[in-house]
Amino acid sequence: MLTSRHLLLLLILCSAGSAQTLRELANERGITFGAAVEPAYFNEVPFAATLTREFNMVEAENAMKFGPIHPGVSAYNFAPSDAIRNFAQTNEMEMRGHVLVWHNQNAPWVEGITDPAQLSAALRDHIRAVVGRYAGQIYAWDVVNEAFNDGTAGTLRNSLWYNQPGIGLTGTGYIEQAFRWANEADPNALLFYNDYSAEHVNAKSDAVYRMAQDFVARGVPMHGIGFQVHFEHTTGNIASVEANIKRLTDLGLQVHITELDVRIPVDSAGNATAADLAAQAQVYRQVVAACLKFPLCTSIQTWGVGDRHSWIPGFFPGRGAALLFDTNYAPKPAYAAVKEAFQTVPPTIRAAGVANAASYQADAVAPGEILVIFGPTYGPAALTGVQLDSNGRVPTEWANTRVFFNGVPAPIVYSKVGQVSVIVPFSVATSRTVQIEYQYKGLRSAPITMDVVPTKPGLFTLDASGLGQGAILDSSYRLNSQANPARKGDVVLLFATGGGVMNPALSDGQVVSSLPLPVPVARTTARIGGVDCPVHFIGGAPGLVAGALQLNVQIADGVPSGQQPVEITIGEAKSQRSVTLWVQ
Ligand code: XIL
Repeated sequence: MLTSRHLLLLLILCSAGSAQTLRELANERGITFGAAVEPAYFNEVPFAATLTREFNMVEAENAMKFGPIHPGVSAYNFAPSDAIRNFAQTNEMEMRGHVLVWHNQNAPWVEGITDPAQLSAALRDHIRAVVGRYAGQIYAWDVVNEAFNDGTAGTLRNSLWYNQPGIGLTGTGYIEQAFRWANEADPNALLFYNDYSAEHVNAKSDAVYRMAQDFVARGVPMHGIGFQVHFEHTTGNIASVEANIKRLTDLGLQVHITELDVRIPVDSAGNATAADLAAQAQVYRQVVAACLKFPLCTSIQTWGVGDRHSWIPGFFPGRGAALLFDTNYAPKPAYAAVKEAFQTVPPTIRAAGVANAASYQADAVAPGEILVIFGPTYGPAALTGVQLDSNGRVPTEWANTRVFFNGVPAPIVYSKVGQVSVIVPFSVATSRTVQIEYQYKGLRSAPITMDVVPTKPGLFTLDASGLGQGAILDSSYRLNSQANPARKGDVVLLFATGGGVMNPALSDGQVVSSLPLPVPVARTTARIGGVDCPVHFIGGAPGLVAGALQLNVQIADGVPSGQQPVEITIGEAKSQRSVTLWVQ
């Protein structure tokens, strides 16, 4: 029987689930979710409230285009874009830059230039000034916008920058040059080529793809392709959009959805039918889901916040209501559909991202090895380190995260979107390969398969880089360093993982507390400065979780003085090279 108490509970549970904003969901996906804005709208309270609640990124809808931002030969108008930058900083949002090179909205003075050399210098100065001003503040730029023609198989659009008069370069040369200038002005910014009607696989996107292949092959500093996605609710074949995202991200490029809106028929009062709003919601859901399926599709942005301010009615008569919020900022069916996509697309992981937590060596895993899995595409927005469970164990579920090895849940050290640390269950020792699955909030990734090896030693290093000074203590627990070198005959304490099966056996996630201390079944040797050194002890130590190893190694008399390489071998496998310690 459903009592009122049950109902209340249900209500609380439901509201807890749906209380998440798109901004929070995007943070859990490690992606930017933005909106194009005009600084004038910041004064409208519902606009600003919706923007900061639901989005973690802003972009200038017009303020940074050549005409508005550079109205005279030496006159820049930075006030509007500074206002957007300030808004972003105040509200802890990212900022995307739009746009440096486009055929529209250029300043009359630059359109009047007829000499290619003069035009080239003008563009170079423009890019330097604009990108340079916001260096470190704008994380990604649309460098070139809409350079290809529609329909006519892959031809370049006639434009000021290309050939009217152009900056004196042929083919995609002017595009390449713009990327090089932008890269010089801010070497850390991600640089994008952005276009419309090139979202599906078609003649235009083929041309963009060929350019992308060429730029990647020649090392042109282009980091991604922007898909504008000004769709209609009739736009179909999302599989073709996914195929296009796939081929571009397979080149190692990122994809950003940059100007998403879905226009639908509206009456003279701007109202759409419920059926069209529902169809629109499905397009939004499909586009967002298509992006979320690909780890390198890293940003989704709508071309405005709500239907009160949208370019669509002015440019497509009879169409409108294209955004996620209505003219009063109430969420539309499309809003729920985007949320559903965020909540239902499973995370992904890659075998190449699975590394030893000490050495960062990938390739295979060993029983009890502490790992870092880089790249899960869904997880807690902030890093959350574990607390031991009521049995004193490292838990196998933490912050809604679980990781399975052949179906066995692994102890979790910490979890954050893009990075989770786990300890390989000892039960993998009986298998030659292991299937790893990552799960967040009940959504499980497709499995990846990796080889299992008996041991895979890695030495922990002081700065956790896997290189250089080891995390090494003297017998008084003081750090080894140039100022505190180990003497010949001293015993130093090293820390490692990847020693494989232990005796006596430990259960997964158990913290070592009692004697006898567990030691790896495989034999361990150590070399310091190229000289064999006695290993007095290797194994679990009180307070260390199963899988973490302490080694007590004596500095042999023959070890040379100075900064010396240290290497251990457990079973057949060696620790990473280039870990060092100081010897007196
Ligand atoms: C549009 C703006 O939304 C309008 O306000 C302006 O009048 C014209 O430009 N592709 C782009 C955007 O890359 O810069 C365009 O923005 C929409 C199409």
